[in-house]
Amino acid sequence: ADQPLVLGIETSCDETGVGIVRGETLLFDAIASSVDEHARFGGVVPEVASRAHLEAMVPTIERACREAGVTLGDLDAVAVTSGPGLAGALMVGVASAKALALALGVPLHGVNHLASHVAVDIVEHGPLPEPTLALLVSGGHSSLLLVPDVTHDVRSLGSTIDDAAGEAFDKVARVLGLPFPGGPHIDRMAREGQVVIDFPRGLTGGRDAERHRFDFSFSGLKTAVSRWVQAREAAGEPVPVADVAASFQEAVTDVLTRKAIDACRTHGVAHLQVGGGVAANSRLRAMAQERCDAAGIQLRVPRPGLCTDNGAMVAALGAQMVLKGRAPSDLGIPADSSMPV
Ligand code: KG4
Ligand code: ZN
Repeated sequence: ADQPLVLGIETSCDETGVGIVRGETLLFDAIASSVDEHARFGGVVPEVASRAHLEAMVPTIERACREAGVTLGDLDAVAVTSGPGLAGALMVGVASAKALALALGVPLHGVNHLASHVAVDIVEHGPLPEPTLALLVSGGHSSLLLVPDVTHDVRSLGSTIDDAAGEAFDKVARVLGLPFPGGPHIDRMAREGQVVIDFPRGLTGGRDAERHRFDFSFSGLKTAVSRWVQAREAAGEPVPVADVAASFQEAVTDVLTRKAIDACRTHGVAHLQVGGGVAANSRLRAMAQERCDAAGIQLRVPRPGLCTDNGAMVAALGAQMVLKGRAPSDLGIPADSSMPV
């Protein structure tokens, strides 16, 4: 096998992910999540996440190797998320990856978390068309990216000016009394509800829409949902949770897909890739498919388990770095919590 064997480590938030990729094939994706430890706080607690990464790292690396049927000595390179993300959490992954690369004498590739959300689709659907337009929607990011080359040329066309899409799902879930993280709960509730409330679509009309054509805004939507729910409660009426969930979800997915397709058209790109935790949303997947079909755009969305944070995405991008002959990172690379794309 002359395809590079790459181990990727992801620790930017609350998932300790270790993926092993050979060339463009995923061998195994091991994940340990501290999400249950954060649930009672209603959000990710950075200190708790860092400690959990430290405890999970070695067992997760061992499990990934065992399940992939490889030993550490077989690795051709190590890749790691070096940013953006929670500083302390990133440091655990970066320090671990440096130690591995140093001990094994193999190159280290520090990769950008946003770019790796895009690159993961290579192990799912094969080589990325160049350029690809990517809609990246997670708990920390909502961005439209133009991607001529995922290993070194990823351009941001726009991003959220306030809350990320996943953050909006999580905040609205809290308003509706659903557990954290709220995205999957809203997705499930919405299936039992109807889209009956016309919630606002941020940055789609008026003067702001021109200036922020490829940007998103979800904080007004979140406020509108909370006001609507409060008015119901104040009137002593029951809150139709499933209908609110469905209507909120419709507003978010409408804006995301509309802007993504507008960006494809504007930049003459015939391929849209959707990634990040919110790409696991069933309505977003269905609406994106419908609208891409209508617009003659080819849609690529990885399976839900590869949309949320994982190690396979890092290994997938690392392997592309090796295949394209990109220079490895210096072993002194820092964790960069606010790394741009
Ligand atoms: O990519 P990810 O795992 O972590 C970040 O980098 O943020 O995304 C997590 C986010 C959370 O906000 C979660 O509520 C959201 O993705 N999410 C969903 C769904 N599954 C996860 N949002 C909507 N519908 C879903 N099915
Ligand atoms: Zn992410």
